[in-house]
Amino acid sequence: MSSVVLDKVTKVYPGDYLAVDRLSLRAEDGEFLVLLGPSGCGKSTLLRMIAGLEDITQGDLWLDGQLANDLAPRDRDVAMVFQNGALYPHRTVRGNMAFPLEIAKSDPSLVRERVNELSRVLQIEETLDRRPGTLSGGQRQRVAMGRAIVRQPKLFLMDEPLSNLDAGMRTELRMEISALVRSLGVTTVYVTHDQVEALTLADRIAIMNRGVLQDVGTPAQIYNDPATAFVAAFLNSQQLNLAAATVRTPQNQYVMLDFGPHQLVLPWSDPRSYAISQHVGNQVLVGLRPDGLAAVPESYEGPSFYGRVRALEYHGHEWLAYLECGIPAAPVPEPPDPRANRNGRKSGPGGLGGLVRRLFSAQQEEFQDQEQVGQNAGSGIHRRSDLIVRLGSRPVWRTGDAAKVGVDLARLMVFTLDGSRIDPPRR
Ligand SMILES: Nc1ncnc2c1ncn2[C@@H]1O[C@H](COP(=O)(O)OP(=O)(O)OP(=O)(O)O)[C@@H](O)[C@H]1O
Ligand SMILES: [Mg+2]
Repeated sequence: MSSVVLDKVTKVYPGDYLAVDRLSLRAEDGEFLVLLGPSGCGKSTLLRMIAGLEDITQGDLWLDGQLANDLAPRDRDVAMVFQNGALYPHRTVRGNMAFPLEIAKSDPSLVRERVNELSRVLQIEETLDRRPGTLSGGQRQRVAMGRAIVRQPKLFLMDEPLSNLDAGMRTELRMEISALVRSLGVTTVYVTHDQVEALTLADRIAIMNRGVLQDVGTPAQIYNDPATAFVAAFLNSQQLNLAAATVRTPQNQYVMLDFGPHQLVLPWSDPRSYAISQHVGNQVLVGLRPDGLAAVPESYEGPSFYGRVRALEYHGHEWLAYLECGIPAAPVPEPPDPRANRNGRKSGPGGLGGLVRRLFSAQQEEFQDQEQVGQNAGSGIHRRSDLIVRLGSRPVWRTGDAAKVGVDLARLMVFTLDGSRIDPPRR
């Protein structure tokens, strides 16, 4: 058992590339912590620094209360599972799994017993005498997992161990990993860019972007109360509805979010109203997940939007509706990029930094165009001004129907235009 503390940890790769920026995070003893974020955000780098495979440029790493920056990898009592869990090709499955124990000069009968027991749990008993080359991808991944677990280290580090498996195998192994790791009670840091994996496995999720920690909390906290618009949009199984609205307080009677053709009203008694009213006269971004919206009858008098059903989409377990209602969709604001100056300078004005900035300003222009569309509601169907609504297992609407959508105000999230949360998260 072990706790992991990262204190303002920074990694700069040769060539002055900032991969991780002053990241502070803690995994408690026995906790299953998931690192989630888009490709290139620094997840593997962080994991490799914990393992000791990569130097820490600045900041401190504490393992079990001991400063570990300069501790050799073998003295960290850490087992790591890599994405393409490389196995020793000339050893059998048994030989692969036994290897870490043999190195530690464990008693051979104990090794045998432990490998047998683990292979039963991982359902690879019948492969014990085979070589890795004759196994399926899923079996190889189980062996890699077994080899990591066999020694019962203090800390598991897993870098996308399931990402090269098919969906069915991923689901199955996900449950096995969860059960196994929890039964052993070993602290685990697990890297993925799959949000379903993160939500289902984690005790807590830490979300990263461009080397910076964006949010950390239990899956429910991050899903229901994300710290920023980026986090809300990233942790979303369907696309997040995000739209600009002007804050008004008509005759000081209530707080209104004015989308142009539609308005939503929050009473002063709502705990979020005061914080939102501080932005009176200004635009804010309003986020609503598709499951915070529901089809309601025409007579419904609660908070709602109305529009026309542009398209229906079947997802097997549910239907999604795309509703044209004259509210322009806003682009998700990207958090500040600490790499922009530093790494952008390297690639020059025509480099990636410049490209991203140009794309972003093009997106802003499109956003402004859409505002026009919003103001002239009904002037035409615009692909990006759809509100996505989750309909459940029955498509209550048909394409072209006039439709009314009830809004669950408790699920409303309000952000500044740069994506910071305004209404105080309830955590
Ligand atoms: N040895 C290295 N030298 C220079 N830059 C590197 C090195 N390793 C990684 N990087 C860069 O650092 C950034 C973070 O890489 P990292 O592998 O940690 O990302 P990641 O979040 O694990 O991404 P993915 O989900 O694609 O695996 C990337 O931009 C990558 O190109
Ligand atoms: Mg990686």
